[in-house]
This record gives sequence, C-alpha cells and structure tokens, in this order.
Amino acid sequence: MPLRPDDFQYVTKLVRDASAIVLEAGKEYLVELRLQPVAQQSGLASIEKLVERLKSEPVGSLHKRVIDAMTTNETSFFRDIHPFETLRKDVIPELMKKRAGTRTLNFWCAAASSGQEPFSTMMMLREHFPELATWKLQFIATDLSQDMLARCREGKYGQFEIGRGLPAQFLVKYFDRRGTEWQIKEEIRRAIDFRELNLVKPWGPMPTFDIVFIRNVLIYFDVPTKRDILQRIHRLLAPDGYLFLGGAETTVNICEDFESQVLGRTTCYRPKRPVKV
Ligand SMILES: C[S@@+](CC[C@H](N)C(=O)[O-])C[C@H]1O[C@@H](n2cnc3c(N)ncnc32)[C@H](O)[C@@H]1O
Repeated sequence: MPLRPDDFQYVTKLVRDASAIVLEAGKEYLVELRLQPVAQQSGLASIEKLVERLKSEPVGSLHKRVIDAMTTNETSFFRDIHPFETLRKDVIPELMKKRAGTRTLNFWCAAASSGQEPFSTMMMLREHFPELATWKLQFIATDLSQDMLARCREGKYGQFEIGRGLPAQFLVKYFDRRGTEWQIKEEIRRAIDFRELNLVKPWGPMPTFDIVFIRNVLIYFDVPTKRDILQRIHRLLAPDGYLFLGGAETTVNICEDFESQVLGRTTCYRPKRPVKV
C-alpha cells in the first residue's frame, strides 16, 4: 500500500525535529524503503501501523529506530582521497611542528557513519607518522546513529566495503580475517573514542580541536542549521586548526567565521583571524 500523505508528514516532522534531516516532498519512496524493514522487525503489518504505534507511544526506542533508519550512511575508506593526502602532506607535518612543545593533537570526526572515515585517518597516521605513538593523541568520532556506532566499535567489514578504497597493504597490515569479513585491529579501534552525538543538540564538553572532519552530513540540513553547527565548530577549533567538509559542502555564504584555503587538491576551511582595529 502506498505511503499515506499524513504518515509521510508525520515521519518527516519526527526526523526533522530529532536530527534536522530534511526529507522533501518526493522522498516518499525513501521513507517506504527504509521503514518497511523497521515495521517488519517490530511485528507490524505496514508503515501505516508503524506510524500508528509511533503516535500512540511516548518518544522512545521505536522512534529512535525510525530516525536511525532515515539517516543516510553512505561512506567508504579514504573517501575522495584528496583530504587524506592533504592531511598527510601538509596539515599533519605543519601541526606537528607547531605542537612540538605540548605533543598533543586533537581530532574530531563528526558523522563517522560505519567508521571508514576515522579508521582511514587513524591508519594513515599510524603508517606515516609513527612518532605520534608517543604523543597525546585524542581522536573522537561521533554519529547520531546507534547502529552506526555499534558498527564502528566492532570495526568489521564485508568484502564489498573492503573493496571500496582500502589499499591492499593496509588490509594486510591493519585488519584480521574473521570468516568472510575483515575486522580492523583492536589497537586501531581502541585509539578512537566513539561517542553518540547529535549535531543539532547540545554537544556537552568537548576539547579544543586541531582538526575537524564533518563531511557529507551538512548537505542534509537547512542553512540556519548548517550555520549554527559551523559556528559551534568555530568555537571549538584551534585558531590555527583545520576544518574539512564534503566535496559538495562549503562555509561560503553560510558562516562568515571561516575562510577557505586550497591545499593540494582539496579545499579546507580555517578560522578567520579577528580583524585588528
Ligand atoms: C553520508 S554519512 C557521512 C559519513 C562520512 N562522514 C563520509 O563522508 O563518508 C552521514 C552520517 O551523518 C549522520 N547524521 C545525520 N544526521 C545527524 C545528526 N543530526 N547528528 C549527527 N550525525 C548525523 C548519519 O547517521 C550518517 O552516518
């Protein structure tokens, strides 16, 4: 049975209020595709019944599962490669010189999805900057989705996911075979602090970051939401820190606190220096 307009409206409002993800008209097929399995797993005959149940219950675990199901978790190892190259060639060497006194580096990977992005970064650091092993490296990776965070903590990937962007020598060096899957070594998993964090809610205490990756998530939000998130990141980013966005994202005309800088073959964003008067 096709999704009823009222049910679509209820789901779009629920998802928007909870996560800021905007589901525009025309996305009915997506709601059907994503919520059919949730209805089935909950023993409900249809999405109509699922919405009835959601409406009748106080906001709880079923609502959370629906919101989780509506997130898009597309990701891959070393996605878009250039930001990782720029980190390796420019950003990390520069920051290591600047932070030689304190020997601390703080990373945040917001919207980590199933973990390929933080794990790619951590493998790159292990591979090319072994001296960081003696530094105080804090690496926080966050996502809204509890399902995705569970996947991150487990760090297990199937052949298809492994085939997307992971260099063979990294597979051999940093993964263990588990039946038909591959699991990233515990040493890499333990080096990352995976936390549940909703970007549109208060974030709680966070350190000052040297590098923030928030890629391919702002595209789901409206402009005021993007601006609010970028302004809050600006307050957490070191004055000489680096912000990385997805290839289709920018701070330009959204948040005036940053200026773009082309480094290698990627664009990153730097906190603007206060204007001296
Ligand atoms: C397309 S993935 C991006 C993954 C990775 N950053 C990349 O570029 O490959 C978007 C992720 O954003 C998360 N997300 C969506 N809305 C969010 C919110 N309000 N707060 C935190 N994470 C959110 C989703 O759960 C999903 O895992």
